[in-house]
Amino acid sequence: MPPRLNNRKRVVSGIRTTGKLHLGHFVGALDNWVRMQEQYECFFFVADWHALTTDYADTSKIKENSREVLLDWLAAGLDPERCTMFIQSHVPQHAELHLLFSMITPLGWLERVPTYKEQRENITEKDLGTYGFLGYPVLQSADILMYQGDFVPVGEDQVPHVELTREIARRFNLFYQRKGMPVFPEPQPLLTPAAKLPGTDGRKMSKSYGNTILLTDPEPVVRQKLKTMVTDPARVRRSDPGNPDICPVGDLHKIFSDRETIAKVDVGCRSAGIGCIECKSWAADHLVEILNPMQERRKKYEENPRLAWDILEAGSARARKVAEGTMNEVREAMGMSAEYEPPEASQQAKQS
Ligand code: TRP
Ligand code: SF4
Repeated sequence: MPPRLNNRKRVVSGIRTTGKLHLGHFVGALDNWVRMQEQYECFFFVADWHALTTDYADTSKIKENSREVLLDWLAAGLDPERCTMFIQSHVPQHAELHLLFSMITPLGWLERVPTYKEQRENITEKDLGTYGFLGYPVLQSADILMYQGDFVPVGEDQVPHVELTREIARRFNLFYQRKGMPVFPEPQPLLTPAAKLPGTDGRKMSKSYGNTILLTDPEPVVRQKLKTMVTDPARVRRSDPGNPDICPVGDLHKIFSDRETIAKVDVGCRSAGIGCIECKSWAADHLVEILNPMQERRKKYEENPRLAWDILEAGSARARKVAEGTMNEVREAMGMSAEYEPPEASQQAKQS
């Protein structure tokens, strides 16, 4: 691995494209990424090939989804001057590395990945008995190792994928070295502190539950969604005391509100001093306060979509450069570089 120009540790992470991002993405990833770009050399990408592993039958929205994700990223404060944002499928080196890794990855490693088993059991409306779906974590390993990254910021559910990435790196380094040196570092997961973000129905916020608050929801929509949000079921009447620790709205306050409001909610809820309607309107105030500047920033790119696409293309070009550097090392380590070697030389190399 060549030394880094700027001496910063490298961070790599991606998001599967499934359309507009919601507050769960913000709390679970984006907010963290925005801070990371100051400290690390960051590569963030739209994982459109990963989206194909489950949504292969209909690709009509895939490009539009990538664009939406990028707009949400820019809105959240990712800055093309501070990090590299790109589209996975625009860096074809990922596919080459995925292929090479697929040769050295034992099937058993993949069949044991917990997300694989879970999704095969839970997703029944699509046929996931494909080669690509089983290989999902190998592609993810290629994404990560391509940038010889030090850290991978992910949620708890992705940790087994980073573990597998480390195992693939180890196995590759064992089989192949370049000038006697390993090609790949073993990256570490950087666990995003898991703030439990409930959706409007109290379950984890997730697109598949239809309980999300989108980063693009305008104020009236946010307020309306809050109004219908479930609360502590013990508070049936206004005069019944409640418990913010078991109320999804209470959870929202803990994540997004200031200390003063949280204290007011705690006392008011437990003594039935405040009503849920009032409490929810405070939560909405704080959400809107966070979403407003994002939506303001988004406008600039919405009005000029070309600008956003150019950012992705510039990022993809930068990523391709780094990726090609890694692939040169990989090809060399495997004895498959395109450089001409006279037959005698390779003969001698074999004998020595
Ligand atoms: N598998 C990740 C998810 O579902 C997305 C992803 C793809 C990713 N490649 C990655 C995350 C590389 C981190 C690093 O969220
Ligand atoms: Fe939940 Fe607030 Fe109602 Fe208490 S007052 S139950 S925290 S919505």
